[in-house]
Amino acid sequence: RLLIIDFGSQVTQLIARRLRELKVYCEIHPFNHVDDAFLTKFAPKAVIFSGGPASVFTDGAPMPPKSVFELGVPILGICYGQQVMMQCLGGKVERGHGTAEFGRAYVTPEARKLALLQGWFEADREQVWMSHGDHVSEIAPGFEVYGTSPNAPFAITADTERDFYAVQFHPEVHHTPNGAKLYENFVRLAGFTGDWTMGAYREEAIKRIRDQVGSGRVICALSGGVDSSVAAVLIHEAIGDQLTCVYVDHGLMRKGESAQVVGMFREHYNLPLIHADESELFLGKLEGVSDPETKRKIIGGLFIDVFERHAQEMGGADFLAQGTLYPDVIESVSFSGGPSVTIKSHHNVGGLPDRMNMQLVEPLRELFKDEVRALGRELGLPESFIGRHPFPGPGLAIRCPGEITRAKLDILREADAVYIDQIRKHGLYDEIWQAFVAILPVRTVGVMGDGRTYDYACALRAVTSVDGMTADYYPFSHEFLGETATRIINEVPGINRVTYDITSKPPGTIEWE
Ligand code: XMP
Repeated sequence: RLLIIDFGSQVTQLIARRLRELKVYCEIHPFNHVDDAFLTKFAPKAVIFSGGPASVFTDGAPMPPKSVFELGVPILGICYGQQVMMQCLGGKVERGHGTAEFGRAYVTPEARKLALLQGWFEADREQVWMSHGDHVSEIAPGFEVYGTSPNAPFAITADTERDFYAVQFHPEVHHTPNGAKLYENFVRLAGFTGDWTMGAYREEAIKRIRDQVGSGRVICALSGGVDSSVAAVLIHEAIGDQLTCVYVDHGLMRKGESAQVVGMFREHYNLPLIHADESELFLGKLEGVSDPETKRKIIGGLFIDVFERHAQEMGGADFLAQGTLYPDVIESVSFSGGPSVTIKSHHNVGGLPDRMNMQLVEPLRELFKDEVRALGRELGLPESFIGRHPFPGPGLAIRCPGEITRAKLDILREADAVYIDQIRKHGLYDEIWQAFVAILPVRTVGVMGDGRTYDYACALRAVTSVDGMTADYYPFSHEFLGETATRIINEVPGINRVTYDITSKPPGTIEWE
């Protein structure tokens, strides 16, 4: 296995992801946990030093134990990791002063060849992503230069005798297009064959959960979304009935959804699951409320209250399980420098751990969404479930602009079901990031048969996106839109007009509220 020593870079997890893609098992450990004893016990087959925000000049600058260089295994240092390596092995690092480099740069090769760079420089130069203040000014004895960029004379360095490699840029990020190749070469020369799988990840994760939880009790808010579902099934596999799940039913789910989720987890997975039907409570408190933020706050607050009550009723728990993913963990960096504006208060269980004084179990913290899906498949979750579009925590409340009534929610559920059925029938579901109906707070006049109608208008929404941060509307054909509108108006009493929302994000958001 491979050890990544983390010096605090924002993108350390991306290194792990690149390695998982190469089917190599790795673990990330913070530099201050890695000492001689740790190294002996871990016995890595190769080591990577991540980047990091520190400067080797600051007091107590993060450093690896010296013994890492005596393990006799290949080491790759990235950015700050390069500086650390040079500093430890007798090279020199200089402070930034005008040589700081952020963003795209181009590296050109030296004449000598390096196995690490196989497949590189097929064009004369390679695009890389730089992000450093300090830089190496003198390489350590035994090292040679294999690539330079205008601002980094030591962009790629190596001591091939000892198999030590150090680069100034970040090969793990998207903006170093050939970076994956560099990792591939590194793991091959370290002797990894790439035989690690998601099945192995599952085993490791189960072991870690058992180690963390011991004989403690765990409670999990299961929403039926992919993340919480995969987390719950995995934890259940690890600790069985020490886990209790609570499905908080706020009465704002889609048609048939609650029955489906509860049924599947109880019957198929035998999960101890409390179905907290709290729709009266939620819909009661939402009565007469039309402001979007107020709706979100009411729902978020009630959710925590309800969850806490159920946890107390079952006699409390030691741990709270969450389906937190890696993108939720990365702190968003504010480039504007100022505090960012709240567009929407997202509903999550973030406030719970403090209030309930529980430790967190977050077995998906290292994974990206597509990897969670792969793990879900590994755990046998049905494909129809794994590929589901995201659904927001506040549910249909934010798809019902204006006041929420049971009658409107019922109409919305029916219309949404017809729309999604249409999308599935036309084989478009997987091409779309998210699709839903919003019921509008206006009624319009229509004519059906010989009679006048005065019913609600609704808007169809469908977007493509990679991460929900930006989105574009999906270009349905006119035929599809026409057929869907006809079906909704014919099949859903209460709606007599259908519109299609063609706003991208930005300037719109995906949800209407
Ligand atoms: P917006 O509407 O902000 O949505 O463009 C981006 C993505 O986030 C989802 N969303 C939420 N998810 N709790 C969630 O768990 C929320 O409060 C929430 N609000 C929006 C939305 O469905 C879309 O996928």
